[in-house]
Amino acid sequence: MQSHSQSVPSDGATVDPIRVPSRMLKTGARIPAIGLGTFGSDHVSHETVAEAVQYAASIGYRHFDCASVYGNEHRIGDVLSRLFQNWLRRDEVWITSKLWNDKHGEDDVVASCEKSVADLQVDYLDLYLVHWPFPNHHPPGCDVAARNPNAVPYIHENYMRTWRRMEELVDRGLVRHIGTSNMTVPKMKLLLRDARIMPAVNEMELHPHFQQPEFFRYLLENGIQPIGYSPLGSPARPERDRTPEDTSPTEDPVIRAIAKRLGIHPAVVCIKWAVQRGQIPIPFSANPKNILANLLGVVGDPLSRHDMNEIEKLDRNCRLIKGQVFLWKDNQPWQDLWDIDGVVTPA
Ligand SMILES: NC(=O)c1ccc[n+]([C@@H]2O[C@H](COP(=O)([O-])OP(=O)(O)OC[C@H]3O[C@@H](n4cnc5c(N)ncnc54)[C@H](OP(=O)(O)O)[C@@H]3O)[C@@H](O)[C@H]2O)c1
Repeated sequence: MQSHSQSVPSDGATVDPIRVPSRMLKTGARIPAIGLGTFGSDHVSHETVAEAVQYAASIGYRHFDCASVYGNEHRIGDVLSRLFQNWLRRDEVWITSKLWNDKHGEDDVVASCEKSVADLQVDYLDLYLVHWPFPNHHPPGCDVAARNPNAVPYIHENYMRTWRRMEELVDRGLVRHIGTSNMTVPKMKLLLRDARIMPAVNEMELHPHFQQPEFFRYLLENGIQPIGYSPLGSPARPERDRTPEDTSPTEDPVIRAIAKRLGIHPAVVCIKWAVQRGQIPIPFSANPKNILANLLGVVGDPLSRHDMNEIEKLDRNCRLIKGQVFLWKDNQPWQDLWDIDGVVTPA
């Protein structure tokens, strides 16, 4: 992807997108090494998220992580459409969307992608992900104890039926790359064995307290780019998504000490660490100051080797986005979603 446009002039600081590092995917395409998350959860309105996208584009972001289930693609589409009419070229921006769990059916995948393309007011997506490897869904904002009576475990044959349709999206030119999200090593092994078009990326929770080192290595060895969601430990996630064991990377004393020494926010330390380690962080923010700080962090001085080593030691295997609502049995531990024994959890 070319990145020749300057950001539109504004009162504040901007970053020339050409200075933002990028990662090369197996196809040779380049994806900016930081993106803006667009999940407002239940506390940031669709309008505010759309404004954040507009502001982020104006200061130099060229990568937006969207999803149909976030409910705001039509609003973001209005912003993108204005940007493309006025000063930005479509091929200067990386746009991701995701297939929601209720659209895994063979007849639903293409239609769902077409809807995201239409809502976002583009001709194609750079990346389309299967949001979760389960077709299990639930009403937005429901309690973590809620279970869909039709929920099922991971069934590889069914996932492959969905994946064949994902491959068709590439064949049709509706999307440039396809990828996965919330996978595990054993599920990914099955997909790599059976896919015609390989996943270009896997989007997964990654922050200093949840580094997933084994899966991370496996992805890199197989030419799959990790994209790190909740890179700051999702500090504003709803109460229902918290458990007493959860820890916060931005409150970690080591991260705070590095931040203090460098005169930056602990969040920016997490972003720098993520980019230098090799994943693509997609921090969410609705606050212009933070949106800018995160981008400046990526183009500013890197963390020292010593700081990188210290942060590597902070891993606590602390998964924050546990996905309880996607479980398929009552009283089932959330760990069943994540194949922690190294094999796909059986029914
Ligand atoms: N594939 C998946 O299943 C999946 C799952 C979860 C998330 N995601 C994606 O990942 C994105 C990010 O994850 P997330 O929203 O869970 O968590 P996050 O990016 O770790 O945290 C976002 C929070 O951090 C704050 N923040 C951002 N930059 C900051 C800074 N420089 N200083 C201080 N605070 C800062 C934001 O507050 P302010 O608004 O006040 O700045 C916001 O409350 C989502 O928006 C979504 O696109 C994907």
